[in-house]
Amino acid sequence: MDTTKSVLIAGGSGLIGKQLTKMLKERGYFVYKLSRNAGKQGYIQWDPKSKKVDEKQLARIDILINLAGANIGDKNWTTARKKELIDSRVQSTEFLSEMAAKMPKLMYYVAASGVNCYNENEQKVFQESDDYGSDFLSSLVRDWETSSDRFYGICPYMKLRIAMVLSNKGGSLTAMKRPINFGLGSPLGTGNQFHPWIHIDDLCRMILFGIDKKLEGTYHAVADCDTNRTMMKGIAKYMHRPFFLPAVPSAILKFILGERSMLVLADLQVSNEKIKNEGFVFKYDKLNKALKALFSK
Ligand SMILES: NC(=O)c1ccc[n+]([C@@H]2O[C@H](COP(=O)([O-])OP(=O)(O)OC[C@H]3O[C@@H](n4cnc5c(N)ncnc54)[C@H](OP(=O)(O)O)[C@@H]3O)[C@@H](O)[C@H]2O)c1
Repeated sequence: MDTTKSVLIAGGSGLIGKQLTKMLKERGYFVYKLSRNAGKQGYIQWDPKSKKVDEKQLARIDILINLAGANIGDKNWTTARKKELIDSRVQSTEFLSEMAAKMPKLMYYVAASGVNCYNENEQKVFQESDDYGSDFLSSLVRDWETSSDRFYGICPYMKLRIAMVLSNKGGSLTAMKRPINFGLGSPLGTGNQFHPWIHIDDLCRMILFGIDKKLEGTYHAVADCDTNRTMMKGIAKYMHRPFFLPAVPSAILKFILGERSMLVLADLQVSNEKIKNEGFVFKYDKLNKALKALFSK
């Protein structure tokens, strides 16, 4: 494997981008990151909205990874926020495909997307080949993935439908720890709804695996699916906090979070057979293993 390649990560300043940068550098890659707020070494400034980028470094890029997008979970989904969630992904991807013209060495593209793109609550295990659902997140993913198809004919590319990323540096695990920390640990909704999840190291390993094998097509980045009750209880156990309160009713979560409540209430199971059939082996294939590793650091 040639480890002297240069990788450019759009949205590399985020949760996944930081860990991916570390793991790419450990493998000997040169890493550059696109950010709307540049200034630090290794960052290239861009503004996907106005299609502006500092082009100086682009000619050296071999591999492009797209993690850019306004955060799905941190604000209410008003009409304006929904537009921002879509635009920040679709416009960024479209602009990246235009920027590819300035990257003569570009040999591979990795596109992030999300696993919440099916008709959830359907009591089946979804495959990558299943149809998109009809809710807001499904249409967001459809538009996002369609914009990635602009890379068709430019270079081989992989789309990763990413599950809830478990990390001890932020994201969903931090949010789930919050009530438990105050002794308010309880299931959300019925607690029986399944959440697909992945340990952040396995996600980054999967991106490295895709780069090594030049995988093409769509893959679920999912280690396993567990119920909300199992996840909340598991986290409480590792935090040495109580877990005995009754479940928070779905109606209350819907009232507080609005449409965004689907992030915690949707019941979704997806398969990871496709990536496993390519030879990928998860280091953290069971929730207990993942939580143990995350809470031991
Ligand atoms: N974390 C998860 O559990 C999870 C699950 C499924 C899918 N994903 C997807 O994977 C990608 C990376 O996730 P993450 O957790 O690392 O996200 P994150 O921490 O929120 O970081 C995303 C990055 O996108 C950039 N960004 C934010 N708003 C933007 C906008 N309006 N226009 C262009 N860029 C913008 C930011 O970079 P600058 O501010 O430096 O420009 C930010 O660092 C996201 O697209 C996310 O939807 C994540």
